[in-house]
Amino acid sequence: MLDFNFYNPTQIVFGQNRLSELDQMIPQDSKVMIIYGGGSAKKYGTIGRVQESLGKRAKVEFSGVEPNPQFDTLMKATEMAKNENVDFLLAVGGGSVMDGTKFISLAMHYEKEAHEILFFGFEGVPATKATPLGCVVTLPATGSESNMFGVVTYNNQKYPVVSPLTFPQFSFLDPEFTKTLPQEQVANGVADAFVHVVEQYLTYPVDARVQDRMSEGVMRTLLEVGPTTYQDNEDMAARKNFMWSATTALNGLIGAGVPHDWATHMIGHELTASYGIAHGRTLAIILPYLLRERKNQKREKLLQYAHRVWDITEGSEEERIDQAIDKTESFFNSLGIVTKLSHYNIDEKGIDNVVSNMEKMGLTALSETQDLGLDTVKKILISAM
Ligand code: NZQ
Ligand code: ZN
Repeated sequence: MLDFNFYNPTQIVFGQNRLSELDQMIPQDSKVMIIYGGGSAKKYGTIGRVQESLGKRAKVEFSGVEPNPQFDTLMKATEMAKNENVDFLLAVGGGSVMDGTKFISLAMHYEKEAHEILFFGFEGVPATKATPLGCVVTLPATGSESNMFGVVTYNNQKYPVVSPLTFPQFSFLDPEFTKTLPQEQVANGVADAFVHVVEQYLTYPVDARVQDRMSEGVMRTLLEVGPTTYQDNEDMAARKNFMWSATTALNGLIGAGVPHDWATHMIGHELTASYGIAHGRTLAIILPYLLRERKNQKREKLLQYAHRVWDITEGSEEERIDQAIDKTESFFNSLGIVTKLSHYNIDEKGIDNVVSNMEKMGLTALSETQDLGLDTVKKILISAM
């Protein structure tokens, strides 16, 4: 196992009908800004219930954080939060709203040009202060509710925002709030969570038994409850397990002390930035083709994945690996996700565009060993066509 520090201060409030406890989580004298997206949270009554739970506290609302949140929108929210002397931010939504809120919490105190917050990548931002924030999750997918990451779109590119100051203080995970999700968003969420686990698991063995077995447990759970949640709005037991799987997939625990390979995410982000394909969907398209291309580098873990996640025990090594990858792709397809770029009208010219944008972003040495260059990215994309 590799050395690691594990830090996760977010309090999780999990379960149905617990939103009244919001009152105990935020200081009574705080002025709260409730931040949400394009309207689903208002339309389905979640904002009303949040307002009620906050009682007499001073509060303002900011709506209109779009999927793949835009820098300009978030700067408007930042100005409003500053003008209104807000001292607590409450995100009500999915990954985009939670990520956007993290950016606002830093931008409110950042003295220089706010876009600089986006340019420090995984080294973390040079910020020293953030407004405290909490989340009410309406879409299980990103794990943003319990991590220090955010992704913001600036000049048509997706940039990371990373700071330990932006861990939410608390997150409410009530599966009831997810019942209004369109099927397509459930599919995206399942794919996103599944790929988060894969990218912290399918690398090379480091004898990290706890992390491996936890990852396998989360993936097996998603294989069970993903299709159920996709098909059945009322299966609350499945929905609860889906929700906790998504948080567990990216709250730092399974990723501590193991190598990571975020190549699928890096390629996927570019597909979203250039062609607007939803985040989870881009990952489901890329992952199977990336695994086929990287079979040799990932051989040992792919065999473990075939055995322990898919119960594949028969056949040669090559056959077991191929079967596991095919089954992974079929799983995404069973959630209504087409895993072919041509379906999204992306041709070879489009692929060249993706590769050249990745070069501009400096994404030229990907994978757990940084040996996955743009030539291989192109090969993966061509095979996914
Ligand atoms: O905007 P509204 O009207 O609320 O509609 C949203 C949005 O259109 C809708 N929605 C959310 N909850 C709903 C609902 N509709 C009905 N009922 C509900 N309960 O769903 C749509 C998509 O929402 P969004 O927040 O964009 O989706 P998701 O949670 O998948 O977040 C995607 C964003 O997260 C980033 C992605 O890059 C992308 O920008 N990521 C963040 C990560 C992190 N913070 O750790 C890691 C991820 O890998 C990812 O990159
Ligand atoms: Zn993701």
